[in-house]
This record gives sequence, structure tokens and C-alpha cells, in this order.
Amino acid sequence: MMSNITVCARFRPLSAKERKDSCDSICISSIDSESFIFKDEKDECTYSFDKVFYEESKQADVYEFLALPIVKDAVKGVNGTIITYGQTGAGKTYSVEGPSILECDVQKKGLLPRVVDGLFECIKSADESTKYTIKLSMVEIYMEKVRDLLDLTKDNIQIKENKEQEILLSGVTEITISDPEGALQSLSTEMNVGSSRSHCIYILTVQLESNTDKRVKTGKVILVDLAGSEKVEKTGAEGKVLEESKTINKSLSALGNVINALTCGPSTRSSHIPFRDSKLTRILQDALGGNSRTALLCCCSPSASNASETLSTIRFGMRAKHIKASPLVSRREDKHAKKHGDISPTKDESCDRILNKLRERLDDEDVKLLEELFILEGLFIDVTSVEDLESAYQDVTSWTISSLQQAVEELIYTVEELKRENKDLKARLADAERFDAMRKKTEDNAGVLLKISGIISFLFSWAGSFSPLKMPS
Ligand SMILES: Nc1ncnc2c1ncn2[C@@H]1O[C@H](COP(=O)(O)OP(=O)(O)OP(=O)(O)O)[C@@H](O)[C@H]1O
Ligand SMILES: [Mg+2]
Repeated sequence: MMSNITVCARFRPLSAKERKDSCDSICISSIDSESFIFKDEKDECTYSFDKVFYEESKQADVYEFLALPIVKDAVKGVNGTIITYGQTGAGKTYSVEGPSILECDVQKKGLLPRVVDGLFECIKSADESTKYTIKLSMVEIYMEKVRDLLDLTKDNIQIKENKEQEILLSGVTEITISDPEGALQSLSTEMNVGSSRSHCIYILTVQLESNTDKRVKTGKVILVDLAGSEKVEKTGAEGKVLEESKTINKSLSALGNVINALTCGPSTRSSHIPFRDSKLTRILQDALGGNSRTALLCCCSPSASNASETLSTIRFGMRAKHIKASPLVSRREDKHAKKHGDISPTKDESCDRILNKLRERLDDEDVKLLEELFILEGLFIDVTSVEDLESAYQDVTSWTISSLQQAVEELIYTVEELKRENKDLKARLADAERFDAMRKKTEDNAGVLLKISGIISFLFSWAGSFSPLKMPS
């Protein structure tokens, strides 16, 4: 099953500062619950998302549309990720946590406490044959390091891939939660440790153990509260804050690059996606690469004074809309599912899996053998290590891309050539038509002359039929 990433936009109410700065002037106007018009001094444009939440929208609306489907799938063993994106102060943390995680009114509760409630609600109504366990982990990415928010001594958690090629945080603390209240208690004590200068990641893992055959599968809900993008020139940041901003912007552009690479069309789909360029993209590899159901909430300020930041957030969301993702039941289940013909992996996925397996298993001896084989086959690639094999693979890909680009350029050139020829032909046709018209006119004139000369000669012959006048003598 192929499905797109769900992408929504959310506009928070104007802040007091924005009201003061730009006299309530706003850069968007609503069309309906999916479309709005964005306008700035230069332009006016309509944008559409899966859903648009305006300033009066309720936290419950956002949860129901964006998160509830993911929660329902997690208890079936399908992974899901919810990401909030947007400039500093746009409402990401408000959407994820609410005004505060514990003492806040029920209406204003954010996505995270609602997801916790939702998971417990779902397992309550699920069938008896399964035993459910819910675990919670929290990490932040600060200055390109992954820090365990449940155990601050673990300040450089490594990101690994398990045998099923799922991305894992090696050695991260997981606490088992037995009810929503307990979960919120843990969250609230640790939540304050995270800062808005880091990307905060909340991982809720649902473990499903079948009472009949003891098979275990897991479904995860990952909530990502990104650090805000900001214009360094606008904030005038210096020193540590400047360094933080640079790191944040770098990882956000890595995220943008991954999304671009994923949306470049099917030809590059199996090619190199730069997931490894930042910790953030590496952690989100499953979410963006198609192993997870994913929702993106683009948080924006509606103020005219933030129009350019809002536009860049909107554009980010529009690009993400074009990612094709195919959520899978967590891969431990794959073999089983295949047996029943439920889910068959795509060709790309199979190729990736084979390549990854090869990479894992090859030792030096095998690589040497492969090298010999390549030379025998006339493929003169100098393979000396697994990394080389990988980069050779990437080279072939970029070679393919560049030859495609060349073909496109040639096509553009041919089109230009044809256009020029077409223009020439048109000019010649116009000339010919003009000439034809002139010829016709000349012919008409000649016809008139012929008639006149006919009349004249008739007159002459008529006059000649009389005898010459005889003058009286
Ligand atoms: N939908 C909303 N309704 C009411 N208030 C909101 C809403 N969204 C955001 N706010 C308020 O706006 C302010 C900034 O929001 P928030 O902290 O969520 O921004 P952020 O996107 O997380 O910023 P940063 O990138 O700096 O972490 C907060 O005071 C928050 O309470
Ligand atoms: Mg925040």
C-alpha cells in the first residue's frame, strides 16, 4: 500500500508582540479547511494541505486528524512518526505538549499526552489474546549529539540499525508505563530538561505479545518537536547561541535535502538519500524512508511580520507532500506476513535489503573475491573495502543522474532548435502569403485593364464602321 505523508499546516494566534509590531496585519486568509491564500508584498498564492488548522483550531482537532490514525496503527504493530516543523515561536512545542504538560486544562492538552491516553484507550478495547506493554524513551539532539533525557549520564547515544534494518538508539533508557498518569508524571519531570534549542524526540513503543504463540511484535509512535529554524541575521545571535543556531539550521537543511532527494521522482528513489548527513535525518530514516506512517505539522505564525519565515515553512511542507511512503508492519513480522501474502516488499526495498545484507556480511576475503570477479567480468572497479563498494555504487548512481541530466539538456536544446525552425517557417509562410495576395491583386488589375482595352478596341472598330466624314466642298 502506498500512501503519502500527511502534511498539515497550523497557524497560531498572533502574539502580543506581533500585534504591536505589525498592527494585526496577517499574511494568510482562509479559503477552507484545506486551502488558504498566502500574501506578502510581492505575491499572492493559494496553498493546499491535507488539513489546515487556523488560530481557533482546538488541540483535539489536531490530535484526531494527525495522530489518532497513527495511534490506532501502533497497537497493530505499524510504526508512526509525528513531526512538528516551523520557525522559533511558531507553536511546535505548544502543539506537542500544550501550555504545560501537567497542570493544564483538558482542552489545551497537546499531542503527546493525548497519544499516551489514546494508546491506553486502544489497548483497553483490543482483544484478549494479546498482552500489551508500553514503553517510553525520550532523547534530544543537541549540538549533533543524542542525549538521553531519562538518564543524563548517557549524553552521546549512538544510532544503529538492527538486523531488521530498523533504526535504533543504542542503550537508550526505556521505562515501562502502566497507565497514562504515570507516563505524564515521568514526562513532566524530564520535560523541562529538554530545551527549545534542541530537537526533542519522544518514543512510545507498544509491544504486542501473542498469548497463543508468544510471537512478539512492536509498534512505535515517535513524536518529534524540532528546534525552530531562524534567521541568524534577524536574531543577531552571537557566541554559543550562534553556534546552536548554526547547528540547528544545518540539521534542518539536512532534513530538507533528504526530503528533496526523496521527492526527486522514481529514477532517484533507489539512489543515495543523505540520511547520514545529520543525527536528525538518521533517526528519521524509517519515518521518511517509508517504514513508518508519517505526519508532518507545519507550524506557522500568521503575522505579516513573519511572512518570509511562514512562506519557507509552507514550502517545506509542500515538498514533503510529495514523498511516497509505504508503512510496513514492523519487519520482524515481514516473513510471517509474506507467508500469508499480506505485504510484499517493492523491488527497491528488496534491492536495499540485499545490499544491506551484503554489506553486513562481507569480510575482507569476500571483498577480494568480488574484486577478482569484477575484473574477470570486465567491470574495472577498484573495490578494496565495503566503503569503496558503497561509494562505487553511489558513483554509478550519480553517473546515471548526470547522464540523465545531459539527456534533458540535449532535449531542451532540440526543443529550442525546433522552436527557431518553426519561427523561420512561419515567417516564410507569411512572406509567401503576402506574395500570393500581391499576385492576386496584380491579376485582378490585369483583368480590369484587359476589359478596358477590349472596350476601347470595340469602340474603335465601331467608329471605323462609319464612312469617313465627307466635308462639303
Ligand atoms: N495554537 C496556539 N494557541 C495559543 N497559543 C499558542 C499556540 N501556539 C503557540 N502558542 C504560544 O506561542 C508561544 C510560542 O509557542 P511554542 O513555544 O510552541 O513555539 P515553538 O515553535 O516550540 O518555538 P521554539 O522553536 O523556539 O521551540 C508560546 O507562548 C505558546 O503558548
Ligand atoms: Mg519549542
